[in-house]
Amino acid sequence: MTRIEITDTDASNICDQEFCGFRDPKHEGHRRKSNWLKRRFAEGMKFKLLQIDGETAGMIEYIPGEHTWRPVEAAGYAVIHCIMIQKKKYKGNGYGSLLVESCVKDARRAKMLGVAVVTSNGTWMAGSDVFLRCGFECVDTAPPSFELLVKKLRPAPSPTFKRGWDKTLRKYGSGLTIIKSDQCPCIAKCTGDILQVCKSLGIRPKVVEVKSGRQARNVPSAYGVFNVLYDGHTVAEHPISGTRFRNIMRKMQH
Ligand SMILES: CC(C)(COP(=O)(O)OP(=O)(O)OC[C@H]1O[C@@H](n2cnc3c(N)ncnc32)[C@H](O)[C@@H]1OP(=O)(O)O)[C@@H](O)C(=O)NCCC(=O)NCCS
Repeated sequence: MTRIEITDTDASNICDQEFCGFRDPKHEGHRRKSNWLKRRFAEGMKFKLLQIDGETAGMIEYIPGEHTWRPVEAAGYAVIHCIMIQKKKYKGNGYGSLLVESCVKDARRAKMLGVAVVTSNGTWMAGSDVFLRCGFECVDTAPPSFELLVKKLRPAPSPTFKRGWDKTLRKYGSGLTIIKSDQCPCIAKCTGDILQVCKSLGIRPKVVEVKSGRQARNVPSAYGVFNVLYDGHTVAEHPISGTRFRNIMRKMQH
């Protein structure tokens, strides 16, 4: 019989865990994310791992809305940052739903208003399907294709995205700005690759390190934890490869 376990992580054991496909604690992405998580646990963050027959198969990360790193107003709600079923062989077996249900159960136990999540049907984030199946509904949208979904556990005003994306974008002025954080273990490599390409293109970027939830909630994109801007335009709102960045910049500069 398949042995399925959902285990909690904490500051004492996170460095030794495999998560999001990162196994080596010395890897920059693993190290940065572990240190980031250590600071978040004190804010009520949950970072749970799904183990199938002892193998790490997935994860879910959520935090009280007051501390979320997504640009949403969601006080009183738990906000899911990330969910992932790591390997193809484990997808489509109900494991994603199991992780969502485990978060909903926690929120109910903590008497929260409900659970909110930012989704995108493009790449990088989970799409809305798994949440809609678990009883969530869409309550807000953000450009270009982000959705804010919620499952209410009590009657309450719906969470919303932060407003004024264009105004926030304008604050960064001209030139290239990379807004980065350690929330996702892929960001370190992606930023390094983009900086290399900048060097070869003669672009001198400004790098803004997002160090708090408050700062992330004021990033000009609904992802909140990574953003590349150029002359008042969004170049990327999720981590991209150096090659993709080079192609985008070639188009933008001509
Ligand atoms: C979104 C995601 C978590 C869903 O995980 P999953 O385990 O495949 O989800 P589920 O198995 O619960 O649901 C998927 C399908 O399996 C079906 N299913 C099969 N057995 C099931 C069961 N026992 N219980 C519930 N659903 C089941 C569901 O009905 C659903 O069908 P559909 O595709 O027709 O809608 C996964 O696809 C994923 O990791 N995507 C990438 C997300 C990402 O990019 N994260 C990165 C950073 S945050």
